[in-house]
Amino acid sequence: MSDIKVGLLGFGNIGAGVVKLLRENADLIRNKVGTGIVLKRIVDLDITTDRGVTVDPGVLSTSADDLFNDPEISVVIELIGGYEPAKTFVLKAIEKGKNIVTANKALLALHGDEIYAAAARKGVEIQFEAAVGGGIPVLTAIKSNLAANNFGSVIGIMNGTCNYILTRMTQEGADFAEMLAVAQELGYAEPDPTFDIEGVDTAHKLAILVSLCFGTKIDFNSIYTEGISRISGQDVKFANDFGYRIKLLAIGKLSDGQVEARVHPTMIPLHNPLSEVNGVFNAIRLTGDFVGPVMFYGRGAGQNPTASAIVGDLIGLARSMKAGAGRRMAPLGFLDAEVKTLPLKPMGDIVSKYMLRFSALDKPGVLAAIAGALGNHGISIESMVQTTHQDSDATPVPIVIKTHEAREGSIQAALAEIDRMDIICEKTVFIRIEDNLE
Ligand code: HSE
Repeated sequence: MSDIKVGLLGFGNIGAGVVKLLRENADLIRNKVGTGIVLKRIVDLDITTDRGVTVDPGVLSTSADDLFNDPEISVVIELIGGYEPAKTFVLKAIEKGKNIVTANKALLALHGDEIYAAAARKGVEIQFEAAVGGGIPVLTAIKSNLAANNFGSVIGIMNGTCNYILTRMTQEGADFAEMLAVAQELGYAEPDPTFDIEGVDTAHKLAILVSLCFGTKIDFNSIYTEGISRISGQDVKFANDFGYRIKLLAIGKLSDGQVEARVHPTMIPLHNPLSEVNGVFNAIRLTGDFVGPVMFYGRGAGQNPTASAIVGDLIGLARSMKAGAGRRMAPLGFLDAEVKTLPLKPMGDIVSKYMLRFSALDKPGVLAAIAGALGNHGISIESMVQTTHQDSDATPVPIVIKTHEAREGSIQAALAEIDRMDIICEKTVFIRIEDNLE
């Protein structure tokens, strides 16, 4: 069989990684597939900037039609990112009968249904291992190796930029903005880094994971999404005093036919392996009814790990083509007709423990007032600290309380009431705690 011819849309940092990998490991790939995988066309609006890799100038083009209209190209790698023109190009490539490999989590999280349906109509495959967890092969594991399981939960640290920033804040007391600039320089961050910091990128990945694990469509805009920009050094320190580390966690759960899908800073016990996931590393923890808990760990962003996932998808497609296997699997691993739309649990109904940081005046009756309001809403206190004692009772002090499990709706109602009290000087900070990770 002749070489598999591939087209690349988007020649940025990750695209350059793909070019490099296909060249450096060409013999290895040939030994595993039985044919070569060759980049026949690379399309980008900018074909003059040096990407640090050598390509035959004849391969470069500024016109996507050069790729779509080439019948020899059987696979298109989409690395443009974002919604448009990526969506139009992917749909056009599918229409032309080409298989797709993409790292575009934003596109799939919002427009996956339309793209999967188009791929099904044309009988082509769409692979997107690089969209979640960089180089970590978690999607393939869910769809294939763990396909025999009903999943109960999928929880993880899925944004390298946030994890890098939180790690350095925790370990060195580093400054948030400075660390964001470093993460950008290292090529971890999205073109718009607020997607990283505000949890949107993590929510994109969670949407994909929830669909794959639970076989459900999910409305991306209904995923509760909160980023790390309001986390202070003080919160990191108090969390540590209670025996926890703060991570930006994506949490997907399925119970009683209802899906939980939420992204927010979360306190994880110090002894749990997830709290030891540092820097750009990601980790994703799944629970299956037969396999039990499984955890995946690896580099969640960066040129080489992402290229590894993309070329892994290419190799899988090349093997199928070589075997004449056609479309082996629907994109989510479930038959297209079996994908449901399960209800999403409202945030007010979730149950969690919480760390509450009050900024309150240091005078008689303050604790009683706070504890009374919590008690009135059925919230039980597990422990508390008030570490700073001020000389003047007019200066606010932090009072930090860890609760037993409570409904989020009750916490919100209690805090609204407490924050209206004269003794409270700033809006109360609350951080959810995930204790059940054994
Ligand atoms: N911006 C993402 C991150 C890149 O920081 O993890 C990988 O999706």
